[in-house]
Amino acid sequence: MDPTDELEPLVRQARDAFAQATASAELEDAKARFLGKSGLVTQQLKALANLTPQEKKARGALINRTKEAIEAALAARREGLAGAELDAQLRAEALDVTLPGRKRGAGGVHPISLAQERIEAIFGSMGFDVADGPEIESDWYSFAALNNPENHPARSMQDTFYVDLKDSEGRWLNLRPHTSPMQIRYARAHARRYEGVAHMPDIRVIAPGRTYRVDSDATHSPMFHQVEGLWVGGSVSFRDLKALYLEFIQAFFETAELKLRFRPSYFPFTEPSAEIDVMFESGPLQGKWLEVSGSGQVHPQVIRNMGLDPERYIGFAFGSGIDRLAMLRYGINDLRLFFDGDLRFLSQFR
Ligand code: DAH
Repeated sequence: MDPTDELEPLVRQARDAFAQATASAELEDAKARFLGKSGLVTQQLKALANLTPQEKKARGALINRTKEAIEAALAARREGLAGAELDAQLRAEALDVTLPGRKRGAGGVHPISLAQERIEAIFGSMGFDVADGPEIESDWYSFAALNNPENHPARSMQDTFYVDLKDSEGRWLNLRPHTSPMQIRYARAHARRYEGVAHMPDIRVIAPGRTYRVDSDATHSPMFHQVEGLWVGGSVSFRDLKALYLEFIQAFFETAELKLRFRPSYFPFTEPSAEIDVMFESGPLQGKWLEVSGSGQVHPQVIRNMGLDPERYIGFAFGSGIDRLAMLRYGINDLRLFFDGDLRFLSQFR
């Protein structure tokens, strides 16, 4: 009798057990039952101890062949299972390459920037230059040149952020509390450029940008935006300011159904001075006077600080809140929404 046959059932049994295992863990359990420390093959090997040396040799060889056959069956099943498991994983994680790709958000322009771009476009169409200037200013540009008396409350620590530095001329620096310093900067550059020229072209400029004040609530933010306007020439009158501002505000809100009111006020750099209020004659804001700007005829001392002769030059200036204009245009009641960076809010302006 072929001695192999005697252990053939063990090999078949192992093959069946391996075939029934449907996962690697199960296969390892089945392996232990045959090849483990107290497995069926190991038991056969232990039984060799009771045999004569002669018998041991033949029996030992038989058991080894059996063991090899079982190990081969195990290896084959392992490979099969690994392949099946990989297939299953690939099926589970299958990619549908025909699905459309994930789009990157297109982003959008911030509503304050949208409002500023509108303002620039409108004044640009009316012949105004758009100027930009430093946000860290010296005391002279922010206050002194604008005829702000030394003891004016706007200079106080409660209103103005000071920088613990002085400029090269020893003047304290501040985060500009308004865009009005740009009146001085722009006009001085203009006056220098046309020095000695008989007919200096009018100064017509707006200067939009960031401004800073120690202030924070639903309608005030420590950083906010203003747009300064300046028109200075040989015969520029308050009438021009009224006509220009009305045209601007109608274009900005895309309606002629509104009124402007110039309410007497005080600013050190203008005389006379006025607050500009707007009232809508229709829509959700109908019937209320809403303040949108300060304005006035440029003070002769300020004209002088621009490097111009107040006997020859006259003009007006205004300073409007861009955030306020944006809030009115988009119907927003809390200024802080602009600066929270919440995409649920911002994405509405895309
Ligand atoms: N700078 C003023 C402020 O921040 C606003 C202002 C008022 C600007 C009158 C002007 C002006 O140019 O003429 O409150």
